[in-house]
Amino acid sequence: MRLFAALVPPDDVLDEISAAIAPHVGQVPGLRWPDRATWHITLAFFGEVPEQVLPELETRLARAVGRHSALTLAFEGFGAFSSARRARVFWAGVTGDSMVRLADSVKAGARRAGATQTDEKRFHPHLTLARAKAETDLRPLVESLSGFSGSSWRAERVRLVRSHTGAQVRYESLAEWALAPAERG
Ligand code: 2AM
Repeated sequence: MRLFAALVPPDDVLDEISAAIAPHVGQVPGLRWPDRATWHITLAFFGEVPEQVLPELETRLARAVGRHSALTLAFEGFGAFSSARRARVFWAGVTGDSMVRLADSVKAGARRAGATQTDEKRFHPHLTLARAKAETDLRPLVESLSGFSGSSWRAERVRLVRSHTGAQVRYESLAEWALAPAERG
């Protein structure tokens, strides 16, 4: 099964992103905008994981998540992979170095469980908003949204998600764990 771990921001924060992108949705040829209900921030992508690994994976992830405190994060700026000029993925960026430490822990736990096909690309926290089949020049879109910065929010839970691929990708939430309460502030 194809699995990943994700953070899901609160609705009011997603409302801000929705409002910012609304004038552009459906306006860029070739760009497809997945339904807002599917929005998430991937913390770690595990790829195909054998079903028998799932119980151990859940144990390890629960342990890793419990060792970290809730994170204060904020959306800041929009960008694209691999670049705004040759984009296939359009995203909102996420600030907060603390996410990198949590992601590293989650990946280490997954590796110990035997979910070896973790993503080794440099971790760039983001929320994917649109995808293109062919490389698309999104510089005008990225520029028109420059300067956006969202309200800060608290990430309190980590979710394990199964991705059912097909004509229409479907995400199934398998488990969720609370981060430890933040110390202060
Ligand atoms: P994306 O949002 O940038 O496409 C499910 O596919 C989630 O895992 C998506 O959020 C996707 O990121 C992320 N992901 C990370 N690495 C991936 C990879 N190598 N292949 C597919 N999805 C990946």
